[in-house]
Amino acid sequence: MAFFSIDGERPVSGPAATLQAAMKRYHVTTFGCQMNAHDSERMKGMLESIGYREATRRADADLILFNTCSIRENADNRFLAHLGEAKRLKSERPDRVVGVGGCWAQSVKEEVFDRFPFVDVAFGPGQVHRLAEFLTSDSLTAQGYFEFEGFTGRLPSKREREFQGWVQISVGCNCVCSYCIVPSTRGREVSRPPGELIEEIERLAADGVREVTLLGQNVNSYGRDLPSPSRITFAQLLAMVDGVDGIDRIRYTSPHPKDMREDVIRAHAELSALCEHIHLPLQSGSSAVLKRMRRTYTRERYLERVALIREHVPDCALTTDIIVGFPGETEADFEQTLSAAEEIGYDGAFTFVFSPRRGTSAATLPDQISHRVKVERMQRLVEVVQRRGRERAERFVGRTIDVLIEGPSRTDPSRLRGRSRHNKVVNFVGLGSPGELVHVRINAATSQTLSGEESLLAGATD
Ligand code: 5AD
Ligand code: SF4
Repeated sequence: MAFFSIDGERPVSGPAATLQAAMKRYHVTTFGCQMNAHDSERMKGMLESIGYREATRRADADLILFNTCSIRENADNRFLAHLGEAKRLKSERPDRVVGVGGCWAQSVKEEVFDRFPFVDVAFGPGQVHRLAEFLTSDSLTAQGYFEFEGFTGRLPSKREREFQGWVQISVGCNCVCSYCIVPSTRGREVSRPPGELIEEIERLAADGVREVTLLGQNVNSYGRDLPSPSRITFAQLLAMVDGVDGIDRIRYTSPHPKDMREDVIRAHAELSALCEHIHLPLQSGSSAVLKRMRRTYTRERYLERVALIREHVPDCALTTDIIVGFPGETEADFEQTLSAAEEIGYDGAFTFVFSPRRGTSAATLPDQISHRVKVERMQRLVEVVQRRGRERAERFVGRTIDVLIEGPSRTDPSRLRGRSRHNKVVNFVGLGSPGELVHVRINAATSQTLSGEESLLAGATD
C-alpha cells in the first residue's frame, strides 16, 4: 500500500515507520523552476512526518536527495557535478541513501541506475510520495518510480518562508512546444479541484501565509479537464482565491499567451490581492520561428495581448522568457525578437540560448545555429532587455509602494529586502520584520532592483 495517500486524504504515518527513521537526517538540493521548489517543500514535509530531520550540510545527511531539472543542458550539467559529491559520500558510508527525483530522473528513467549505480531510488515528479514508501520498506534493491500517480500538492509541506506559499493548481502540460522537454517529464495536464485548492489556501492563511503563488506548467488553461460540476476557469479560480481572508497577494506562473484571455487580464484590475505583474513568455518575436516552435500564436497576437494588458492595467509589470538561436533563426527573425523586446519594454526577462533536448522535435531540426552566433545574439538581446528594464524601473522612483519584507538585504545586511507587488526586489532602510507589509518610498532604481526608505507616515501611493 502506498505510504502516502495521494487522493487528498491525510498521510498515514504509522509508529513503525517513525521508529525506522528515528533521528535520520536528509538533505535536499533543488534545481529548476518554482514547481520544483514547491515539490521539494513537499518532499521535506513528507520526510519530517515520517521522523526525518533536515541536515544543513549534505555531508551530515543519511539521505541525500536531488530534485532535478532538465530544461536545458546546463541544468543537467549542474546536477551531474553535484551527483559526483554524493557518490563520494556514499562510498565513505555505504548505508547512506542517495535519491534522485524530478524532471531529469523522469527523462532518463531506469537508465539512471545503469549510469550511476550508487543511486538507490529515483522518482519522477508525479511519484514523490513513493519515496516514503521506499524508505520505510525493507527493500535493499534500487527502485525507480515514474508513472504519474498524484499531485505533490497533497503531501505535507515544510515551507521555506512562513508567509509565502506555493499552491500547485495543476500538473503537466498539453502543449507541444517543439523545444520543450516538460510535456514528456510532467505528462498531460491535470487540474486539482477548486474546492480542494481553496481549502488548502484557507489553511495556509490560517498558518500565517500572506502571499500565494499558484503554480502550473500552463496555469491559465486551468480547469478545462475538470468534470462539469466543478469546472471553473482560471479567472474564476483567481476570484475565489481573492476571497480568502488573510491572503494579501496572489501571483501565478506561468501562463501561456494563447490562453491569456480578457477575463484573466481584467482580474488584475478588479481583484485587490492579485498583483500587478504578468509573466508572459514570448520565446521569439518572429512569427515564423513561433510557428516552428509550435507556440500557436503569432507576433501580432502576442502584441495584441500586451496592448489589452496595458489597456486594463496600465501600470502592470510585464516579464518574459526568450530563447535565442532556435534552429533556422535568421538574422531577420532575431531582429524581430529585438524589436519586440524594444517595443514592449519588459520590466525583466529571462533570456536563454536554445539547448537541444532529448526526445524533442527541435533537437533534430535542420539549420542548428552555431554557438558563436547564439552568444552574439544573446549579448545584443541582453543589452535591449536591460536598458528597457532600467527605463521601466525609473517609473517607481518618487513613489511609495507596498513591500512584503523577506529578510535582510543580500548585499548590505543593515538594510532590508522585500518584494513589491510588481515583483521588483526592493532593498531599503527600515525596521520591519520578515512577513510584514510596509510602505517604502523609492529613491533609486536599476534594471534589477529598487531601493528606498521605509515610510512610516504616508500610505502607499499605489
Ligand atoms: N532551450 C532553451 N530554453 C528553453 N526553455 C525551455 N526549453 C528550452 C530549450 N530547449 C526556456 C523557455 C521556457 C523557460 C522555462 O525555459 O523560455 O519558457
Ligand atoms: Fe525544470 Fe521544467 Fe521540470 Fe521545472 S518543469 S524542473 S523547469 S524541466
